[in-house]
Amino acid sequence: MSILPIVTYDDLVLRKEAEEIEENSDELQELIDDMLETMYNADGVGLAAPQIGKSIQLFVMDSDPMVEDDEVKYGPMVVINPIILEKKGDKVPMEEGCLSIPEVNDKVFRPEVIVIEYSDREFNKHRLEAVGWTSRIIQHEYDHLKGVLFLDYLSAFKKRMHKPALKEINSGEKKIKYPVVSKNNN
Ligand code: NI
Repeated sequence: MSILPIVTYDDLVLRKEAEEIEENSDELQELIDDMLETMYNADGVGLAAPQIGKSIQLFVMDSDPMVEDDEVKYGPMVVINPIILEKKGDKVPMEEGCLSIPEVNDKVFRPEVIVIEYSDREFNKHRLEAVGWTSRIIQHEYDHLKGVLFLDYLSAFKKRMHKPALKEINSGEKKIKYPVVSKNNN
């Protein structure tokens, strides 16, 4: 297994719609292991394939560190070719961040409950109704497969507020605790 560098927010791969994965392969299994290792190494709770430069419909996540003791724990999850079937409940604010936008956090409003259909790493199909942080992380990572970032939901004022931090990330000058590749580093 190896830790992969994470692309930062100005990389155009983060703005593309990711392609469906048609079949399993050794390479895919290796990529999944690497993405899980990369996510845990960065203390993240979710990582989508575009964030390591691959525009395919895959993300890994682990909401366990975020959920309360009395909530359902799912452990590490591998999500392939997801479809959100339903969004339910009120839009609630939660503080989000993103490994591609290190140390920038803000409140994002999203529906509380989602119903998702996806394949796991063995390509078995699942349907899951999720709430709380599990729902939140799924929605954030699902967005990555559509080329959407959490910043896109913020007001013009909030976006302007984060501008200096974004500039610092893009310049490649920001010290980040895990391996990243910013466009200006290439
Ligand atoms: Ni993210």
